[in-house]
Amino acid sequence: MTFSLKSIGSWSFLLLMLMQFIPLNRMNPPAVSDIQTPYAIKNSLKKGCYDCHSNETRWSGIAYIAPISWLLSSTVSSGRSVLNFSMWNKNENKKKAQISQIIAQGSVHQQLYYSWNPESQLTDREMVSLLHWFNDSIRPPIKNSGNNHEDKIP
Ligand code: HEC
Repeated sequence: MTFSLKSIGSWSFLLLMLMQFIPLNRMNPPAVSDIQTPYAIKNSLKKGCYDCHSNETRWSGIAYIAPISWLLSSTVSSGRSVLNFSMWNKNENKKKAQISQIIAQGSVHQQLYYSWNPESQLTDREMVSLLHWFNDSIRPPIKNSGNNHEDKIP
């Protein structure tokens, strides 16, 4: 049996069509206990991390077309399973050091995503603010201090 280019083409097309009907979990469950941060910090996290590490994923148009949709939905599931800012609780404070490490790496973490979505790339300034915030909030607050942010031990 020989395969003509035309028949390979039509079978591939049919297969692509059929792939579209495979159901996928592209849901955004409610954000039950979203991490509490200052507004600017939350903004940067939403910009750079929330697509994979929260229940507030912005599913773009391409996320609906198989087989790319499969890759995206599995990336989001594994991202959410290791870290979900929408389901943050106190025990996750130990994750903060790990988060700082990832932020410091810049777009090395999930390079493909950041080259595809350059608008999600954090600026150097945003990275520095995030690093400050995550590192500072790991330390317990200083007790009996009236002036509670100027006098932190560096
Ligand atoms: C395109 C999706 C995506 C984006 C955007 C993304 N991550 Fe991730 N992240 C993942 C996936 C998938 C994993 C788990 C597998 C891995 O380590 O690659 C992960 C793992 C992690 C881990 C755990 C690392 C470890 O060693 O176990 C941390 C912490 C993390 N990400 C932080 C962040 C932060 C902070 C941002 C934003 C600056 C971010 N991620 C942006 C997908 C993403």
